[in-house]
Amino acid sequence: MKFSKLLVAMFAGAISFGAFADQPIVIKFSHVVAQDTPKGLAANHFAKRADELTKGKVKVEVYANSTLYKDKEEMEALQLGAVQMLAPSLAKFGPLGVKEFEVFDLPYIFDDYNELHKVTQGPVGQQLLAKLEPKGIRGLSYWDNGFKSFSLNAPIKTPADLKGKKLRIQSSKVLEEEIRALGGLPQVMAFSEVYQALQTGVVDGTENPISNLYTQKMHEVQKHLTMTEHGYLGYAVIVNKKFWDGLPADIRGQLETAMKESTVYANKIAKEQNDKDLDAVKKSGKTEVYVPTKEERLAFKKALVPVHKKMESRIGSEIIQSLYKETGFNPGAL
Ligand code: LMR
Repeated sequence: MKFSKLLVAMFAGAISFGAFADQPIVIKFSHVVAQDTPKGLAANHFAKRADELTKGKVKVEVYANSTLYKDKEEMEALQLGAVQMLAPSLAKFGPLGVKEFEVFDLPYIFDDYNELHKVTQGPVGQQLLAKLEPKGIRGLSYWDNGFKSFSLNAPIKTPADLKGKKLRIQSSKVLEEEIRALGGLPQVMAFSEVYQALQTGVVDGTENPISNLYTQKMHEVQKHLTMTEHGYLGYAVIVNKKFWDGLPADIRGQLETAMKESTVYANKIAKEQNDKDLDAVKKSGKTEVYVPTKEERLAFKKALVPVHKKMESRIGSEIIQSLYKETGFNPGAL
């Protein structure tokens, strides 16, 4: 991030908090997706409820679509206090040094949202959030998005169709290994750069929940989308710990309520948004949507589940086993 940009942002942040008693407390909430995505809508919902519950004492400024910071920058900005709140995808915590979060990237570890919620709304999810504290970050909640599918400019029916293809991924070592397991070439890239990279052929394809594919118009530059639903993409809502702990207790309580309500809202709309966007992709006529047969799905599973074992030494077998226990996943049952 440019130093000058950061300084300006930090200065603004310092002024916004506590300098003038009658001024509202400003929470800058930066994210990288469009407004009409599960995360975008939930962030706006939180801003509205925070305003209502604190009676205008807190103003949440939401910056969507990487307008303030891109993926990597936003994590730095949060730690430095230049923004106060983010909701990065769980795949983006590895570079921060909290590798356990990459457990969420393991292919096929969740069959559906119910299995996911056993983790994100249970003790394992809380234990993971606690690991952010030494980084100066407080994890408040998990917000759903959805299950990722592969897209390309050629049909995808078998794992071999991805062989040799350059595929954009988020900054997760598990996702790198996932692409390698398919014989593809993983390319880590900021979300804001993906559309152009697909358009210009810098990468051949990518993986996304449909809400992200559609709202970034990636379907306009990808002729084929196969509903592999091979992995999960969702978020942890995080705040700068020092900022959060420094808030007056009554205000923090009201914001916690706003966050609880926004989490219920986020997790209610996530599937609806993805279903709606899938319909829109189909209607656009720009991308052919293919649903794999049971056998084709099994072939992808067989190719990708070995990634669990391979990544055990990085993520930790304890956390993997605790997820298996919650979800009932059995890697030997294929
Ligand atoms: C991605 O980089 O593909 C996603 O993490 C973007 C997002 O925040 O959903």
